[in-house]
Amino acid sequence: TQNEPTDLLGISPVIPVVVIDDADHAVPLARALVAGGISIIEVTLRTPVALQAIERIAAEVPDILIGAGTVTAPAHAAQAASAGARFLVTPGSTRSLLQSAEETGLPILPGAATASEALQLVEMGYSSLKFFPAEAAGGVGYLRSLAGPLPQLRFCPTGGISPDNAAGYLALPNVGCVGGSWLTPAKALATGDWKSVTTLATAAAALQR
Ligand code: 3PG
Repeated sequence: TQNEPTDLLGISPVIPVVVIDDADHAVPLARALVAGGISIIEVTLRTPVALQAIERIAAEVPDILIGAGTVTAPAHAAQAASAGARFLVTPGSTRSLLQSAEETGLPILPGAATASEALQLVEMGYSSLKFFPAEAAGGVGYLRSLAGPLPQLRFCPTGGISPDNAAGYLALPNVGCVGGSWLTPAKALATGDWKSVTTLATAAAALQR
């Protein structure tokens, strides 16, 4: 039943997870990421302007694959799709949430944190998952342990990832990419410091996997 997967984990070593408070930040932020070599962005549905931000990036920054994150309620999926999101990310997975997400026809990166949750998603046809909250749930050692019984799964660990620990995750055979908010610090957004975002993106795009 899984929607035809774009290989979301194969696009960039890092999926920037961004919280946008001002819709005017959306386009310069996305352009700054592209300038650093990052071609995918997850805009979290955590702020009132998130859908507007997605709309603007979808319309004005064709070089980045725009997705919606923090999809936590069934109604979010259609809203994000209408705004122009091209993939959906959930921090955790319920049947009704994934059903609504699947109805959009968009690729989905569903969240899981345990072997049971991962197996439920395997039964539903998913093989690329978001491992969330990565550091708090057990980090690199935990994910390495999951690769034993579940070698068919690939993960995008997210939550507590930074330049200091990203490489350790990316070295695992069951990690396709990592996700994180460190490329887009709130302070850089608030001050329009897009150069810093590009610098952080450049380093992230160069991470080996
Ligand atoms: C998410 O929504 O995936 C996380 O909030 C991102 O976690 P981070 O801020 O620790 O990178």
